[in-house]
Amino acid sequence: MWSYRNPVDVRFGQGSFAVLAELLAGRSYVLVTYGEPYFRSLAEELQKSAGKPLLTIDDIAPNPDIARLRQQTARFTALAKQPEAIVALGGGSVIDSAKVFAAARGDFAAMENYLRKQADAATVSPWPLIAVPTTAGTGSEVTCWGTVWDNAAGVKHSLAHPGLYPEYAVVDPALMVGKSQELTVQTGLDALSHALESLWNRNANPVSMAHAVAAARGVLSTLPALVGDLRNLHLRERMARAATLAGFAFSNTKTAIAHSLSYPITLRHGVPHGIACSFSLPMIIRSVAGREGICDEGLRAIFGADAAGAAERLEATLAKLGVATDYRHYGIEEAEWRNLIESAFEGERGQNFIGSRQDLLLAAGLKEKVSAA
Ligand SMILES: NC(=O)c1ccc[n+]([C@@H]2O[C@H](COP(=O)([O-])OP(=O)(O)OC[C@H]3O[C@@H](n4cnc5c(N)ncnc54)[C@H](O)[C@@H]3O)[C@@H](O)[C@H]2O)c1
Ligand SMILES: [Fe+2]
Repeated sequence: MWSYRNPVDVRFGQGSFAVLAELLAGRSYVLVTYGEPYFRSLAEELQKSAGKPLLTIDDIAPNPDIARLRQQTARFTALAKQPEAIVALGGGSVIDSAKVFAAARGDFAAMENYLRKQADAATVSPWPLIAVPTTAGTGSEVTCWGTVWDNAAGVKHSLAHPGLYPEYAVVDPALMVGKSQELTVQTGLDALSHALESLWNRNANPVSMAHAVAAARGVLSTLPALVGDLRNLHLRERMARAATLAGFAFSNTKTAIAHSLSYPITLRHGVPHGIACSFSLPMIIRSVAGREGICDEGLRAIFGADAAGAAERLEATLAKLGVATDYRHYGIEEAEWRNLIESAFEGERGQNFIGSRQDLLLAAGLKEKVSAA
């Protein structure tokens, strides 16, 4: 038996940003975005049609940190009335920060107790959220979780609650044409990782697989062309579609071993999330290819009949995008790499992975194959 559920109402297409006021339908709102000029001008455009926000939080930095989120949440207490909705206009860092604000409803301690698993889901009842992603991307516009980083403690948390599925996802590829080549590659590979992670996943089902295949094929056929033609709206649209479809895939499975491996690499070595969670993908494919079931079916549909050859195809694509697949490139030494792989199996995301520690160490070249005597 399997089930699939995703309640997010999606509006997709060039110019869809303009429907935001209609979706807000006169409700008061808090806007969460970045402080850069481009986002200021979008905020002004929104204000013309939807009215002034009660509050704008525009000091969102990449990889939202818990200490800053606490300070930002405190700003809600100064409001004369609470908002009826939160609008997140930005990439994963903005959408995930907005999820924290929506869950906290001005009370950071209550949200934190839930985040640290010291309180149950009934204590959290998030405000409605409208997510407008400007990267393609994290897929956070169609998932019910957000990543919260704690740089001081060197750990990351996942805030997950069914009430955090955005009410609407407004995906407008026109908002993404100004992304740099670097950001385009990083965020595009994050989407690829989400698609593949939902395949080698204990929670995979036929619907998540269909989304994953369409998403991964979309990224692989679009990203190499897009890096040479960054302002091409058609290619931006294809990437936006792939990233949201990847979101639909992993919204029901969560991520797996590549993401589990990635968090300490981002925390300790400062590697951007999209690179940290994707440079290991060929190695992971080598370790799981050939197992019958949804994973192999999906890998064959993405890469062609030969699942083992999939790793080589992906390596070639990553090389073309300028992404190194050797861990040493990221300042990781062999002993740390072994340790990272071993410990990636602990925790929820590692346990979602259908592969084994032994096979992954083998694929990493850190273990000799034991030949049958
Ligand atoms: N909730 C989830 O399901 C999920 C999934 C994957 C990643 N994440 C998290 O999301 C975060 C990463 O998000 P991200 O990769 O979208 O990047 P981001 O939100 O961290 O933004 C990175 C930079 O991109 C710039 N930027 C964003 N959109 C732009 C645009 N349209 N034009 C020009 N510049 C733009 C921003 O100014 C910012 O400096 C990480 O914290 C990661 O852990 C969450
Ligand atoms: Fe990710």
